[in-house]
Amino acid sequence: MYVIRSATLQDLTIVVSWIRTADECERWAGTQVAYPIDLSTLPSTIKFAERNAYTMLIGGSVMAFGQVLDKPQNRQHLATFIISPMHRSRGHGRTFLHELLHRATADRVGLNVNEDNSVAISLYAAAGFTAAERPQDQQASPRSRYMEWKRSVPTDD
Ligand SMILES: CC(C)(COP(=O)(O)OP(=O)(O)OC[C@H]1O[C@@H](n2cnc3c(N)ncnc32)[C@H](O)[C@@H]1OP(=O)(O)O)[C@@H](O)C(=O)NCCC(=O)NCCS
Repeated sequence: MYVIRSATLQDLTIVVSWIRTADECERWAGTQVAYPIDLSTLPSTIKFAERNAYTMLIGGSVMAFGQVLDKPQNRQHLATFIISPMHRSRGHGRTFLHELLHRATADRVGLNVNEDNSVAISLYAAAGFTAAERPQDQQASPRSRYMEWKRSVPTDD
């Protein structure tokens, strides 16, 4: 059984311990965060706030982290999404992604994902994200693809 709650700065410290190389760092947070990660500047760099950051816990231990950032025009941005290395490939990414989309309030949720991150691309595609044109306010590495999820409109029938 898992629990989802707002993330704290202490949780962020645990998440940083999961990032072991510059490449993993870029996959996680894009080019905005330099490796080795400076914990004193990380919260402001990723615009961390308890209202936009979530963590998933199993047995009281933090095992996932992600942010849903507000953007203009009824849009939000999924960022810094990660499952702890010890808990990957067991369906937790799918569960946590659905939980974050359930908490999203905008009609569109975008994200950047590295073109070589095939596991993440499969996960996002299975959840309904498709490749889309990157909005002008979004900066990202040329190695990344922009994907977007659109809230489905309920039909009358
Ligand atoms: C990407 C990530 C979040 C996936 O989380 P996960 O818990 O391992 O994923 P899940 O077990 O829920 O699997 C979801 C889907 O991903 C794919 N997948 C998962 N593990 C895989 C593997 N080892 N090989 C290939 N595809 C895999 C599958 O499509 C799977 O769906 P399926 O089970 O229906 O086949 C995780 O690998 C991670 O944290 N990676 C490092 C950080 C990162 O890259 N974040 C994304 C930033 S954009």
